[in-house]
Amino acid sequence: MTDSLTLRRPDDWHLHLRDGAMLEAVLPETARHFARAIIMPNLVPPVVTAAQAAAYRERILKALPEGMDFTPLMTLYLTEETDPEDVTAAYANGIAQAVKLYPAGATTNSASGVRDFDRVRPVLEAMAAIGMPLCVHGEVTDPEIDIFDREAVFIDRVLDPIRRATPGLRVVMEHITTAEGVAYVRANPTGLGATITTHHLVINRNHILVGGIKPHYYCLPVAKRESHRLALREAAMSGDARFFLGTDSAPHVDPLKECACGCAGCFTATNTLSILAEVFEQDVRLDRLEGFTSLHGPAFYGLPPNEARITLTKGALVAYPAKIETGAGPVTVFDPGFPLHWHVS
Ligand code: NCD
Ligand code: ZN
Repeated sequence: MTDSLTLRRPDDWHLHLRDGAMLEAVLPETARHFARAIIMPNLVPPVVTAAQAAAYRERILKALPEGMDFTPLMTLYLTEETDPEDVTAAYANGIAQAVKLYPAGATTNSASGVRDFDRVRPVLEAMAAIGMPLCVHGEVTDPEIDIFDREAVFIDRVLDPIRRATPGLRVVMEHITTAEGVAYVRANPTGLGATITTHHLVINRNHILVGGIKPHYYCLPVAKRESHRLALREAAMSGDARFFLGTDSAPHVDPLKECACGCAGCFTATNTLSILAEVFEQDVRLDRLEGFTSLHGPAFYGLPPNEARITLTKGALVAYPAKIETGAGPVTVFDPGFPLHWHVS
């Protein structure tokens, strides 16, 4: 039985750090274990321009506690007004590694997202020409479409047409939640990757709804039925380099989750690696963990894997706080519903 595992230091290819007091509290939770992360730009107001991304990056580095080593990889929030030249210059100068596409209204702080996809065509073409990845929140917002079908419909109605119209565009399907998402990646061998969150490997929609509403399991895209969770687990553990970790750790203070209209997001930064080790061990796939957390993501983004290593050691129960205190209020830590035994050092 394996009880110790050394991995290259992982990266998180989809992370919400927020700003201000929240940033200060949640950043160490990620930086403790992760070397780099793709930072989501859905602040209020959003991080749209290269100048805004550079300023946000500075705020993140300023909030990083002494002695912690962490590199934020910035993204630009795509709007219908985004200037292709600003985007390409940000990529060339290393200010931003990717552009983030939110369909308007799809999720938390996405009001400035895209309504008419033809209006962002020049930006997408410029990105395809230089190989800059587009990170996609893949859900339609059509009120007629059932929330559990929104990812699958997005693939057919939006994503596939965009990719056909923009040859060479590199796309990350973020936080995929369906067997259809897995199948679409597999069917399109070039220029396409997908991130999978920690929580979508653990919960299905029953966890949210059975026995009372559990607001801390509500996120977007919403967790689907069990067959989809199993498809995600299979993809994450398949060794296929197109699938990699993006936790989508998305902190909200408890009063905004535990109310009549609770917002979407699971906060997993604190215990993500212990959960992942447990999940991969459950499926007898610990040998595939390093690919998922530390190798596939850098390969997609054209970056070297980290040289530093972490060690996971199996032992007594891992103690983690039920909540972390932030200057903005308490944030509940994701509860996987099973005990954790893998310690990170
Ligand atoms: C994210 C957030 O809170 O910013 N919420 C979530 O449920 N994942 C937004 C997002 O990534 O959809
Ligand atoms: Zn997110």
